[in-house]
Amino acid sequence: MRAAVGLLAVVAAGSISYNVLQHQRHADLSVRLAVASRPRPPPSEKEVLRLFYEQWIPLQKPTVWQNRWLGVGTLQNPFDVWVTQEILFEVRPDFIVETGTWYGGSAAVFSTILEQINPDARIISIDVEDHAGEAKKLPIVQKRVDFLLGSSTDPKIVSEVKARVAGKKVVVILDSLHNKDHVLAELEAYAPIVNVGSYLIVQDTFVNGHPAWPSYGPGPHEAVQTFLLKRSDFVVDKSRERLMFTFSVDGWLKRVR
Ligand SMILES: C[S@@+](CC[C@H](N)C(=O)[O-])C[C@H]1O[C@@H](n2cnc3c(N)ncnc32)[C@H](O)[C@@H]1O
Repeated sequence: MRAAVGLLAVVAAGSISYNVLQHQRHADLSVRLAVASRPRPPPSEKEVLRLFYEQWIPLQKPTVWQNRWLGVGTLQNPFDVWVTQEILFEVRPDFIVETGTWYGGSAAVFSTILEQINPDARIISIDVEDHAGEAKKLPIVQKRVDFLLGSSTDPKIVSEVKARVAGKKVVVILDSLHNKDHVLAELEAYAPIVNVGSYLIVQDTFVNGHPAWPSYGPGPHEAVQTFLLKRSDFVVDKSRERLMFTFSVDGWLKRVR
């Protein structure tokens, strides 16, 4: 008899703790449902941009990495190409100096645009390697682009460029080696050839957490920050980020004096 009563007590206690547990689970679920159905504030622009980078630029995705211009591979962000076209139209440069040729697709893009803006304009495109064989077959590239083989920071290349563009209107686009020291050296080398009112465009400043690829290490964004600390002749033109999805976060530098 005593054993039966004991057993009943154990079963009852078990049933009570089961009921308490179930009750707790229901309560948790209702709280979660209430939170989920609450209207969420819209994501900030920064968050939208972070999500865009997360979805758009992983190397294994067939997004920007497969872009072609007139059949030639180019690593340009189409939003930035649009804005660069606006700058080129406003500045009407005689020269674009581009560091980082790769396949020559970006030189092909810019020469196509320049064709409509300044019939005498030329592009100087610099790279340590020559992979631009396909681009060099394009008539527009043959007509407008001079390729220089060597490092963009090699003093011989820098003086060659300076001699060619002396006294001309110049837009500079940096897209070569994306580490801080190299980009800073490029900024210092090529800033003097950018005339007042023109632009020095630093590409891929979004890395190292600005806002993507947080573990990249000091890159173009850090170079820009250090460059601007020391001088007042360039300012960041945030209006050039109006399309939001830019690879040049804080990288559209306008020469103002
Ligand atoms: C991001 S890719 C350029 C992409 C090209 N502008 C486009 O949009 O299609 C970078 C290029 O920089 C070149 N590069 C690396 N170090 C360099 C240096 N010190 N000077 C010039 N180019 C360099 C690489 O060989 C590579 O072709």
